[in-house]
Amino acid sequence: MGDRQRSAPAAPDGVDTERPSVARVYDWYLGGDQNWAIDREFGKRAVELFPQVKDVARQNRELLGRIVRAALEAGIRQFLDLGSGVPTVGNVHEVVREHLPEGEAATVVYVDYEPVAAAHAIVLLERDGSTDWSGLVQEDLRDADAVLTNRTTKRLIDFRRPVCVLMLAVLHFVGGDDQPDEIIAQYQQKLAPGSWLGISHITDENVPAEEVAAVRALADSYEHTSNPMWVRGSGELEPWFGAWPLLEPGLVPVADWRPDCALTPAGRRARPFGLAGVAARPS
Ligand SMILES: C[S@@+](CC[C@H](N)C(=O)[O-])C[C@H]1O[C@@H](n2cnc3c(N)ncnc32)[C@H](O)[C@@H]1O
Repeated sequence: MGDRQRSAPAAPDGVDTERPSVARVYDWYLGGDQNWAIDREFGKRAVELFPQVKDVARQNRELLGRIVRAALEAGIRQFLDLGSGVPTVGNVHEVVREHLPEGEAATVVYVDYEPVAAAHAIVLLERDGSTDWSGLVQEDLRDADAVLTNRTTKRLIDFRRPVCVLMLAVLHFVGGDDQPDEIIAQYQQKLAPGSWLGISHITDENVPAEEVAAVRALADSYEHTSNPMWVRGSGELEPWFGAWPLLEPGLVPVADWRPDCALTPAGRRARPFGLAGVAARPS
């Protein structure tokens, strides 16, 4: 993976390569190539502080695939991925394309405010000919109105039908002052019965005492990126689903949300650091 990472492409317009970016560092954790030296340096320091960080990121990406597959099985055909990141490894639209029953149609809207994530998503969707059924909205998810009324969102999502909204590994970049519960509620209000809301979040709950300091150090290190990070527990996350009941198995470690394979030893070490839940709007 090192070779691919050393050959990052020229930065698209508007991309700040002087400061590490959350989207690009996450891409580096996943083994992608949309990252610059400043991101890799930051990522390497993060690994020193918190050696499980790459496995935590991978578990989260695998969760994304499991939720999308489960939503497809439940009949949902529209996906709104808020804080979608650099779409290099395991995108929603790729999972949809692979698992959508033959002859059926689905749509995907990616939302990220990071220029490199946006630029790369546009190139990628154009390159693989998916732009008629998927698109990128470069907006701040905290401005739900801007996301929901964006031309691309309106073109691809029919809010009279169920939507699977994903907020995976993104709300830990939204501070309490921004009132994440109210932001989430604004999306929920717009969604039809049968819609899903999936959330995953970094946590230090149920983490061995000696590792709490490591995850806190990781969070502190994000002070110097485009996004500071907040570590939260289930007591803070559960109310975010509002009145929507959680689907089985509830709010659980990321790796335990409907797993489809056994955990590796590295996966077991990463397991305590992420929480995930998916709720559905009752009919
Ligand atoms: C850790 S990545 C997660 C990517 C993807 N959701 C996943 O789970 O694999 C977080 C992404 O959220 C984006 N992000 C953070 N805050 C955001 C905001 N307020 N609005 C839109 N995107 C945001 C970052 O730019 C980054 O690409």
